[in-house]
Amino acid sequence: MRVLHAGAEVFPLVKTGGLADVMGALPQALVAQGADVRLVLPGLPAIVRGVDGQRLVCEIGPMFGAARISLRLGTVGFSGVPAYVVDAPRLYRRDGNPYLDASGAEWSDNLQRFALLGWVAAHLASGELDGDWVPDLVHAHDWHAALACAYMAAQPASPARSVFTVHNLAYQGLFDAHDFHLLGLPGRFMLPGALEFHGRFSFMKAGLAYAQRVTTVSPSYAAEIARPEFGCGLDGVIRARGVAVSGILNGVDGKVWDPASDTLIDARYCATALQGKARCKAALQQALRLAVDARAPVLAVVSRLTAQKGLDLLLQALPDLLAHGVQLAVQGTGDAALEAAFMAAAQAHAGRVAVRIAYDESLAHRMVAGADMILVPSRFEPCGLTQLYGLRYGTVPVVRRVGGLADTVVDASDEALAEDRATGFVFDAATPAALSDAVTRAVALWGHPGAWQRLMLRGMAQDFSWEPAAGHYMALYREMLGTELASD
Ligand code: ADP
Ligand code: GLC
Repeated sequence: MRVLHAGAEVFPLVKTGGLADVMGALPQALVAQGADVRLVLPGLPAIVRGVDGQRLVCEIGPMFGAARISLRLGTVGFSGVPAYVVDAPRLYRRDGNPYLDASGAEWSDNLQRFALLGWVAAHLASGELDGDWVPDLVHAHDWHAALACAYMAAQPASPARSVFTVHNLAYQGLFDAHDFHLLGLPGRFMLPGALEFHGRFSFMKAGLAYAQRVTTVSPSYAAEIARPEFGCGLDGVIRARGVAVSGILNGVDGKVWDPASDTLIDARYCATALQGKARCKAALQQALRLAVDARAPVLAVVSRLTAQKGLDLLLQALPDLLAHGVQLAVQGTGDAALEAAFMAAAQAHAGRVAVRIAYDESLAHRMVAGADMILVPSRFEPCGLTQLYGLRYGTVPVVRRVGGLADTVVDASDEALAEDRATGFVFDAATPAALSDAVTRAVALWGHPGAWQRLMLRGMAQDFSWEPAAGHYMALYREMLGTELASD
């Protein structure tokens, strides 16, 4: 079974969030289950530099405003997964964020940049670009790759199937109607049942409308996006797809996130030898200039600082949390106003609140290992990975009951504690009071070291590996491809 994964990011080369972690880990898990997987990636500088052993497959174009486009095939060294690199210097060879310019605005040619990615995926699927390897199925991730599904639908002769995974419905790739012609798609693709969205057009809709199957990254989020509250204006489109939409929970890459082998943290530990975690905590407190105090619970946040993540609630609840003796460590980048507010909080509470406005993979590991609790108070959360990392590292998650957070953390209610099921603290309302109440309950249990350790160990024993998720994707692929490929 040949499967082409199309996406804009891949760990460890280009990462702005969890999408990269998924693009890095899921293909390997699929390979382990017998699939023949390749990636197709935009030739961003780190991808051109980081994909090993590239050889030319073909030259394409000129198109989408790029004079020279080379398609090369190499390997992502980290995973050994083969990857096609779409090298279009004019569109992709620029430093900084893959989606935004230095001022934080969308790159003005994002239409062309991500149309090209989808176009290449679709034309690999039709066999026009690489006759040596033609995928049976294209799996496109998020709006950046979604147009692959429309280009495939525009070539009815193409036998390849398509799956589209929504990692975040809030980012849709919306463009002005008068630029539709730049896509090179027939006019019928601009109808309301196709890409048209309130007088503009939407890349996200190309995936939602034309992929044979749509998945999202947790079962709860799959149900939520069919409702106006979470549908970002697309809930009707989701509902119309009916049973073609399903949720498959993400996993954790145990090669990257495992406290027993993690070389980025200050000391290694595991469920049967927890001493290292105390060393990680002291080292983190020291590095962040928090008071080095084993008795003060350290609450960590590792997150993009955007409205999605609900961190404004944390800012409002902060005086309450500090009154409970909590130390807060925040690592993130994003909205300027949130960055400034967290910096101000750190200044006002030196030694008790530490803030690092930085994207730093190594610090993220030290935060997850060194903290006692990890907070994810999101307004919506398609899956969420940091709470899963927290569970694995014995860092108890405190999360809002939404999306993948609801699917992965069991609240420490009296009943769940008595039944030995609890793994964290879950709150419902998106209010500072509800967040504060959950942290208060966590701090109360923290005061009972035996009970706290049982909670930690239960979290560490959870299996959130990629294997079950890959098994679900394989079953979906097999169902779509029919039985003749099932035993490939
Ligand atoms: P999202 O994809 O919505 O940002 P996830 O929880 O799925 O949320 O994934 C976030 C990923 O990005 C995690 O791997 C997390 O460790 C990482 N991350 C977020 N912010 C930072 C940061 N400032 N530095 C390093 N890693 C970060
Ligand atoms: C998105 C979501 C996040 C999810 C990640 C990987 O960025 O916001 O919840 O974990 O994609 O699927």
